[in-house]
Amino acid sequence: MVKEVEGQDLLYKQFAKYYDLLYSKVLDHKEVAKTITKLAERYGKSDGRDLLDIGCGTGADLFYLRRKFNCTGVDINVMMLAIAKRNVRGVRFLKGDMQNLILNKRFDVITILGSAIGYAITYANLKKVFRTISRHLKPGGITIIEPWIEKGDFISGYIDMDTYNSNNLKLARVSYSKKKGSTSIVEFGFLIAEKNKGITYLKDVAVDGLFEDAKIIKMMGAVGLDACVIKNVKGSYRGRYIVGTKAV
Ligand SMILES: C[S@@+](CC[C@H](N)C(=O)[O-])C[C@H]1O[C@@H](n2cnc3c(N)ncnc32)[C@H](O)[C@@H]1O
Repeated sequence: MVKEVEGQDLLYKQFAKYYDLLYSKVLDHKEVAKTITKLAERYGKSDGRDLLDIGCGTGADLFYLRRKFNCTGVDINVMMLAIAKRNVRGVRFLKGDMQNLILNKRFDVITILGSAIGYAITYANLKKVFRTISRHLKPGGITIIEPWIEKGDFISGYIDMDTYNSNNLKLARVSYSKKKGSTSIVEFGFLIAEKNKGITYLKDVAVDGLFEDAKIIKMMGAVGLDACVIKNVKGSYRGRYIVGTKAV
């Protein structure tokens, strides 16, 4: 008997406890932390080591980043935050939305990794995210953003699969991607087989904005962030980051 569950954001809710088992196979969080540290040294002009990770998920990057920075993690999803709090000690985790976050603190480094920025969906919302970043950066501070697939590079009809296999747990995540205007719609099917429990089938849909890097750079400039695209980034799933520096 297969238990079927359909809903929104199930990847970050029901599936949250399995998230790292699948994604740690494709994301090298240790390498990401090394890259962030190097970029902060190269582009950052503020003196401190306060870092804010927005859309931090299960805190997998903060697990390594906390060795070099005083870290705060923010995510909109309480299930992801619960896992982050359990797995990553010494980091302050808060529930918040990247579009309207207000913390009474400024940071030297603000990261948005794993394409979390795609969830802004529209340029109007993206503007709010850049205002959030600018408001929370110290003069000379930097932001490092790992964008979602650029609009022109998105392939409609693309299919993908990731699996995890252990004695007590088998996971399969399949996806089908399509484009609708300036958004990507990725349908996910998750099959979870647990020993002595049975099989659960989750269906989920992720809607992300398809943006252009050149427009992003321009919008960041408008809120005082001098930005550029960096390619062939080590550790990044899609190989590119956007780095913005706030004027001193
Ligand atoms: C693809 S995951 C990336 C997680 C993590 N940064 C990583 O690289 O492993 C996207 C995360 O963004 C979060 N998220 C989505 N919309 C958000 C919003 N408006 N504000 C803050 N976090 C958001 C989700 O809950 C999820 O944890």
